[in-house]
Amino acid sequence: MDKKVIIITGSTRGLGLAMARQFLSLGHNVVLNGRTEDSLQQASDKLSDFKEQFTYMTGSVADPHTHENLVKTAISHFSHLDIWINNAGIPQEYDYLLNVPDQTIIDITQTNITGVILGTKKALSHFTTQNSGSIWNLNGFGSDGDMKPRLTVYGTTKKAVDYFTRALYKEIKDLYTWLTIGTINPGMVNTDFLIKSLEGQDEKTIEQNMAFNNIFASDPYDVARKIVPQILSAGQGFHQLRYMTLPMVLTRLYKARKILKNMD
Ligand SMILES: NC(=O)c1ccc[n+]([C@@H]2O[C@H](COP(=O)([O-])OP(=O)(O)OC[C@H]3O[C@@H](n4cnc5c(N)ncnc54)[C@H](OP(=O)(O)O)[C@@H]3O)[C@@H](O)[C@H]2O)c1
Repeated sequence: MDKKVIIITGSTRGLGLAMARQFLSLGHNVVLNGRTEDSLQQASDKLSDFKEQFTYMTGSVADPHTHENLVKTAISHFSHLDIWINNAGIPQEYDYLLNVPDQTIIDITQTNITGVILGTKKALSHFTTQNSGSIWNLNGFGSDGDMKPRLTVYGTTKKAVDYFTRALYKEIKDLYTWLTIGTINPGMVNTDFLIKSLEGQDEKTIEQNMAFNNIFASDPYDVARKIVPQILSAGQGFHQLRYMTLPMVLTRLYKARKILKNMD
């Protein structure tokens, strides 16, 4: 098997950790990332069955040095780098713009937009030295243009990620014909992220959203089992990976018809 080396930003928990485990279980090597040594230690403990296959690098994706250090770590440990996944992202607690603290807006935009642009730039710069490589950015609510009150800041960041990835592909497709680049839309995933986004809502809204989450949110390991093989097999050019298909949505709606009937 051709062993790949993959950098996954924001892989201490949630979808990033699930994708890391899936790559490792298929025999590949992974560089994990998160903001604190503590969270990376905890993630490492969870992946202890694969301890020879991964390493990690601490740092925020909002800091360009983190991306530089991620490349250096991949090369020094595994001697090459094949796939870069800009997964790190932070949610918005449901709220009106005037109630969202300035620092929260800065943190969300710096992680979800600046982090993705800096990560993509670093990955591309490294991949041009070897004329091969694959870059993936995480879409989410807002990427398709959907709008929902009190999720405006987060939705804006995910629309930006989608725009950035498409626009960049258009910019470079004739220059770097060997490149694989794309977006991943995981649908709603049962992670800390979803719980955090519910903070700040009134009881009724929490109840309704929990019911909605119970119907539509997927297990991160189910998402990773479907998405990781698609990442590994994607050829050159632009790709849009999506976990939830229309038949899956319809099946879940059908199964939840009684719950939905009782929701006003
Ligand atoms: N969950 C969903 O329903 C959903 C739906 C659509 C799209 N997504 C997208 O999927 C991605 C993963 O989401 P998730 O649900 O797995 O989230 P999660 O469980 O909250 O995990 C987020 C990860 O990002 C890391 N992180 C946050 N800010 C960072 C920063 N500035 N620098 C480096 N790492 C950072 C966290 O690590 P530390 O805290 O240890 O730093 C953690 O490992 C995000 O881009 C999200 O927007 C999620």
